[in-house]
Amino acid sequence: MKTSLSQSPIWELQRDYYEQKGVDAWREGEVPHYVTSNPTVARAYAAIIAAYMRDVQPSAPVTIVELGSGHGRFAYHLLKSLDHFHPDLPPYQYIMTDFAQQNIDEWRKHSRLQDFFDSGIVDIALFDAAKTDHLDLQIRGKSLKTGSLKGPIIVIANYLFDSIPHDLFMVKDGQLYEGLATITGMPATTNGLSPAQIIEQIDLDYVYTKVKLPHYKQPALDGVLKHYAENFDETHILFPNTGIDCLERLRKLSKGDMMVLSADKGYHRAEDIDDRDAPGLVNHGSFSYSVNYHAFARYMINSGGKVLTTSYQHHSINVVALLSGDHDFTHTKLAYDANVERFGPDTFFVIKMHLERVLDTMELHEIIAYLRLSGYDARLFKLAMPRLSEITRTASSDQQDEFYQVLRNVWDMYYPLNEDMAFDIGLLLYELDFYQEALEFLEQSRDEVGPETPTLYNMALCYYQLKEWEQARDLLQEVIKRKPNHRDAKAVLKRINGNLT
Ligand SMILES: C[S@@+](CC[C@H](N)C(=O)[O-])C[C@H]1O[C@@H](n2cnc3c(N)ncnc32)[C@H](O)[C@@H]1O
Repeated sequence: MKTSLSQSPIWELQRDYYEQKGVDAWREGEVPHYVTSNPTVARAYAAIIAAYMRDVQPSAPVTIVELGSGHGRFAYHLLKSLDHFHPDLPPYQYIMTDFAQQNIDEWRKHSRLQDFFDSGIVDIALFDAAKTDHLDLQIRGKSLKTGSLKGPIIVIANYLFDSIPHDLFMVKDGQLYEGLATITGMPATTNGLSPAQIIEQIDLDYVYTKVKLPHYKQPALDGVLKHYAENFDETHILFPNTGIDCLERLRKLSKGDMMVLSADKGYHRAEDIDDRDAPGLVNHGSFSYSVNYHAFARYMINSGGKVLTTSYQHHSINVVALLSGDHDFTHTKLAYDANVERFGPDTFFVIKMHLERVLDTMELHEIIAYLRLSGYDARLFKLAMPRLSEITRTASSDQQDEFYQVLRNVWDMYYPLNEDMAFDIGLLLYELDFYQEALEFLEQSRDEVGPETPTLYNMALCYYQLKEWEQARDLLQEVIKRKPNHRDAKAVLKRINGNLT
């Protein structure tokens, strides 16, 4: 069956994938998320949001709506950055949303989000970017509908526009065509196959049919399409009809202005639109496309707004800001310049990739410098862990004290998915001779991940150093019961038994 790309059944597979997987999509590493959800992106967004509030001087609370919050990690990083770097902001509320209820259920019980929920700043709502036009807040029980908000709305969409329905158009010899999609490669029977297994096997074929404007009978969409028909001769255009329509729906919630902050793989320059082939699906359990930010920018410019983009094409992640309303946005532009154009998420990611190649030669003060640069990023810490285990003990005592504080900060910025960071931090604190603190982290690891043998063994070592012989002995006996050949455990137990007799 041929349909507009946005009506293709592939989007149902996408929905099934996210609804069935929930947060496991990221826990299992199937869907990438680091590049859009690290402290550097959050710090950049926080700076831009603070500058935007300065520019628009809101007379009513600002509402920040995050679309496709997924794992919830970005919300945590951003809320921490807003709190820490911008403590005097005008009042705002932050609404985490997704179309998968499973994700929402996970945020509800996530330890890192409880204080934010309790403070009344953060709420959550089921929101389908393809169709929903209101927000039913699940914590406060309020409903936000057309015109409900007096203050401005800030929309955050990271790795979201690449995942929601698009249409496809082609311009050939100045004539506009629509690409009607058919799924190919669909297995004869899908019984017993997961959405990811089906997505892996399928592809799309297109036939092209002439288009007359207005095509959508929606000025926001037809205005952008007209621009493409009139300004390009020969190209394919992945058209974010759902994304633009979603922004229109969200814009109507507020009587005020709107800012959109979005990070994704995608292109924004006119030269990147020319001469493109039909786009391919990128598979990662679910699937995604490269986002046509040029179309979003055209949409915002057509409606009298402004757009902030980098002067260069990104390597890993593109960050754009769309701004509606009649302001000159002086501070917002400067914040974008400092936090995206000059040094931002894309540059940081390149630096991090380079760091990975040299980590095993680095000294403690150098790793500390990168951890600070990264905003105490737990992923970077995890990557550095093998090297840190080698060098921590030999650092000077001043440096060890400094590193202790860095570890505290890494922990504070960490939003657990399943990395067992508490165990790693516990090990390093032990190396730093902070035995009581090491014990607390190892206990936390035991409580969250379960009583793994290495955790119990290292807890025993902490008790040993603290001269709490009986606790150390009990744990070592448990370790030896599980691993009768654990020679180190036996040696420590022997020493303890000597102390106890
Ligand atoms: C690629 S993940 C991005 C998650 C997170 N924002 C990040 O940057 O890592 C896409 C997220 O969007 C959600 N999603 C996909 N289609 C959606 C739709 N139509 N409406 C709302 N959320 C959607 C998925 O459930 C998932 O959480």
